[in-house]
Amino acid sequence: MSLENIHIVYLVAAICFILALKGLTSPKTARKGNALGAAGMLLAIGVTFASPKFHNQIYIVVAMAIGVVVGVPAARLVKMTAMPQMVAIFNGVGGGAAALVSLMEFILRPSPHGFAIYQLVEILIGVIVGCVSFSGSAIAFAKLQELMTGRPITYPGQQVLNGIIALGALGAAAAVIASPTTPVLAIVGGLALLFGIAFVLPIGGADVPVLISLLNSFTGLAVAASGFALNSVVLVVAGTLVGASGTLLTLMMSKAMGRSLPNILFSAFGSVVTATGSDASGEARPVRSSTPEDLAIMLAYARKVVIVPGYGLAVAQAQHTARELAEVLQEKGVEVFYAIHPVAGRMPGHMNVLLAEANVPYEELKEMDEANPEFATTDVALVVGANDVVNPAAHDSPGSPIYGMPILHVDDAQSVIFLKRSMRPGFAGIENELLYNPKTTLLFGDAKDSLTKLVAAVKAA
Ligand code: TAP
Repeated sequence: MSLENIHIVYLVAAICFILALKGLTSPKTARKGNALGAAGMLLAIGVTFASPKFHNQIYIVVAMAIGVVVGVPAARLVKMTAMPQMVAIFNGVGGGAAALVSLMEFILRPSPHGFAIYQLVEILIGVIVGCVSFSGSAIAFAKLQELMTGRPITYPGQQVLNGIIALGALGAAAAVIASPTTPVLAIVGGLALLFGIAFVLPIGGADVPVLISLLNSFTGLAVAASGFALNSVVLVVAGTLVGASGTLLTLMMSKAMGRSLPNILFSAFGSVVTATGSDASGEARPVRSSTPEDLAIMLAYARKVVIVPGYGLAVAQAQHTARELAEVLQEKGVEVFYAIHPVAGRMPGHMNVLLAEANVPYEELKEMDEANPEFATTDVALVVGANDVVNPAAHDSPGSPIYGMPILHVDDAQSVIFLKRSMRPGFAGIENELLYNPKTTLLFGDAKDSLTKLVAAVKAA
């Protein structure tokens, strides 16, 4: 195929990627968007094979086959709750690949002195950002997979040491520009790997998914840089799209958590968990708990019930049972919808994906801004495994780590039911006063078991 035609196909692939991102902005069109993105990628890979400049086919096919054998079962078998670490590892591998591409572009030139300065800068960006993304994602994976502590790891002088490593990498990069040699470029890569580890260690808990989104945007940047080094327009476009969308997603997640990005990256948030269920004197505080039968009566005779899903719904895999309860209530004439907080769960769109998997109609999902005015006229807010996203400390307690985070105003509802297993806090590790509110009733137990009991009891009510 001629190079002109190849570029036309690359352009079509790039359009597919842009439309894919557009499709992914709504649960209704997300499947189509995903399919379009995959089609664009297939087109880009297929046409690359038809390029007259394409060599080493065997190696590439073998590498792709290994990728398919590892990637497909991993993606199919992963549990929904393990999705963030899956994204972390895939993202890290992408960053590592981009770094290797830039490195090989440098090594395979007959004379490294033939590079123009801008080409060296492209290669250096690919190596540095790709290596940071690779090692940073590996540590983020280890934290989420509980191969190491998920809490922030801090020590005295940490920021200074991180600064020294970063300056060392930049100094070595300047040396590569002054006199391009492979060993010095390898030192740049080594220091960038070290920086990736050092940068991620103090970030922990609920901030890790935000970090993964940031590293994802780094990978996009590294891919775009390797695209410049290889003169590949499609890599530049794809990398830029990943970089830009990853950056936007990172900023949106920080905003939804009511925190600034520097605060997330540098404040070691979540290093302390506050014990719950006791007051300052250590006395256990009373909460009201009830039986599925009593709660079923409350639900069955309500006019409007709002289900608020959170991370616990994902842990319990209770999405199908939640839909079943909603249907049973709707059959009894109760108005039911689901209120979705943007950071409920552990990854963007976590609740939307779970509920879509359970075939909950999209019209029954309301985003936070749409749902909040509805709570004042809601009889029962049924909180299924959510905690931080409904914690009134976010607007009542200026000292609280989640202060300023927009929340779902379930406390405006007439009654609140919490389905959870214990008095343990949510991911931010802080007490939730709403659990002690006189309008709140708790049903202790695994969310799926509790919902199953509620379905049976509502049917019998
Ligand atoms: P959390 O505040 O983490 O609370 C989850 C609740 O579910 C806990 O109270 C837990 O209590 C309960 N739970 C766990 N397993 C359960 C099970 N099997 N059955 C019943 N209950 C169960 O969740 P949330 O309200 O969804 O908030 C999300 C948190 O993650 C926020 O802090 C948010 O900032 C953070 N975060 C989210 C994202 C994204 S993008 N979603 C990204 C970064 C950070 P028990 O242990 O007592 O059962």
